[in-house]
Amino acid sequence: MVNLEVLLTERLASAFEQVAGLPVDPSIRRGRHADFQCDGALTLARRLGRAPREVAAEILDHVRLDDLCSAVQISGPGFINLTVAKEQLGALLAEIADDERLGVPLADRPETIVVDYSGPNTAKEMHVGHLRSTIIGDAAVRVLEWQGHTVVRENHLGDWGTSFGMLIEHLLDVGETEAAHELSIGDLNGFYQAARRAFDADDAFKDRSRKRVVALQAGDPATLRLWHILVTESKKYFMAVYARLDVRLTEEDFFAESFYNDELQPVLDELAALGLLRESAGAQCVFPEGFTNRDGDPLPLIVRKGDGGFGYAATDLATIRHRIRVLGATRMLYVVGAPQSGHLEMIFTTARDASWLAEPTRVEHVGFGSILGADGRMLRTRAGASLKLVDLLDEAVAKAAAVIVAKDPDLDEATRAAVARAVGIGAVKYADLATDRRNDYRFDYDRMLSLRGNTAPYLQYALARIRSIFRKGGVAAPRGTGAPVVAEPAERTLALQLLAFPGLFEEVADSLEFHRLAHYLFELATAFTQFYDACPVLRSAGETLRSRLILCDLTARTLARGLDLLGIEAPDRM
Ligand code: ARG
Repeated sequence: MVNLEVLLTERLASAFEQVAGLPVDPSIRRGRHADFQCDGALTLARRLGRAPREVAAEILDHVRLDDLCSAVQISGPGFINLTVAKEQLGALLAEIADDERLGVPLADRPETIVVDYSGPNTAKEMHVGHLRSTIIGDAAVRVLEWQGHTVVRENHLGDWGTSFGMLIEHLLDVGETEAAHELSIGDLNGFYQAARRAFDADDAFKDRSRKRVVALQAGDPATLRLWHILVTESKKYFMAVYARLDVRLTEEDFFAESFYNDELQPVLDELAALGLLRESAGAQCVFPEGFTNRDGDPLPLIVRKGDGGFGYAATDLATIRHRIRVLGATRMLYVVGAPQSGHLEMIFTTARDASWLAEPTRVEHVGFGSILGADGRMLRTRAGASLKLVDLLDEAVAKAAAVIVAKDPDLDEATRAAVARAVGIGAVKYADLATDRRNDYRFDYDRMLSLRGNTAPYLQYALARIRSIFRKGGVAAPRGTGAPVVAEPAERTLALQLLAFPGLFEEVADSLEFHRLAHYLFELATAFTQFYDACPVLRSAGETLRSRLILCDLTARTLARGLDLLGIEAPDRM
């Protein structure tokens, strides 16, 4: 499959190499004055101490572009402007239009990739960090699966640790049936806070809780049964949130902390045998190099606590070891908020020191910032309490319903409900994915649900409108009918944007910068709108009609694919 930008880059790169005597990046990008602009001659001229225009001219002497370009010009201080021949555009468009995958190749070396995401905690409400992790992780899963990798979804549920003593004792006080009820309807915070209140207020309860932790860690069957109730009911609630969010996580994807219990002691033994453990204040610790606290003292990663218990860090060490040794992962993504970056880097370094993690296997912290309220402060409910995730999603869907009624009052009730869901949830996801994930962003219903601007509803509407062209015109997409004719400037802009999809996709799969995919889709929808304003489709005929329908069809398929990769549903009408 031909990728225009790659093709031009290859041709120019060899000319640059001939002129420079060594490989040089021609640095090609979409141009303002021509289809593509090559800036490399400027950099090279500086290095050679020569006049840039002269270097550009010499490069052009060494390159053959006439089969691809209709015009090649040196402009300004020494840019090379490239205009692609329209026959070439047509031929390339036909190639991707006839391809189910829109010109995007399957990975030539498919990998086993673990995506660690969502990771809520038993008997605790999911917070907005878990929401972001779930949305971003789902996009990563979709992108990598579509690229042909074996993707292992791992939901690292917090289901172990000292707080389970108090949670189990509280469960006993409330009664099993009542507790299960509270948890399954999603009153996780209520349950957790009540347990904590009892723990803080009542010494006898505190004492029972401590003994309960010991019993749990010793595998006492009666205690395990109670613990299991907490976990099962919480999972039910999380599954309900995932269903509402329409993400690919399933019941089978829970690889909870407790899953690694049997591997904790072996990990400790292995680290000891490698000489990586040191005792510090009674605890068994690793001190990975390069991690220090504010005073410059080495930071410990606590593997086994002074009381003999294993914690979050030990579990993460067992987890990464398991992923490499048992699952055979060669790429691991940790979709976890930025505050845990220090912890994760220490885990990764320790895994390298223990030689579990070695080239070509790689691990990435896919970090992200916080969600802020419209006021720029931490997101809270109006009453100031911390937020319940489902309420946030329900409100988005309710507000979306209002937008849709205003747009098309004739939709029947059932369709409207389905569209409201797609638009409301889509808006929440898109608002998250459309900004650089490392940044914080403001959660603003009005902005995310706006039909103008870089939003999900704008893209969903653009797609629905293209689909309606085919519906209204009673025409089918002219697939497999040969190259379209690209004549008008707006057609050319749209064609170039469509041809950029394969290259863009690859960049997103590597960098996991989903905002670049969002931005691409926004520009595609904008290019389509300009095309549609300038070039009548159904009112044209013959070759022009066929060509424009190909552009419409390819735009619709690219938008639909892009939205699907971001986990966003695209209703047929809006
Ligand atoms: N349960 C954790 C939390 O709520 C997130 C788990 C992230 N994954 C991991 N392997 N540590 O913070």
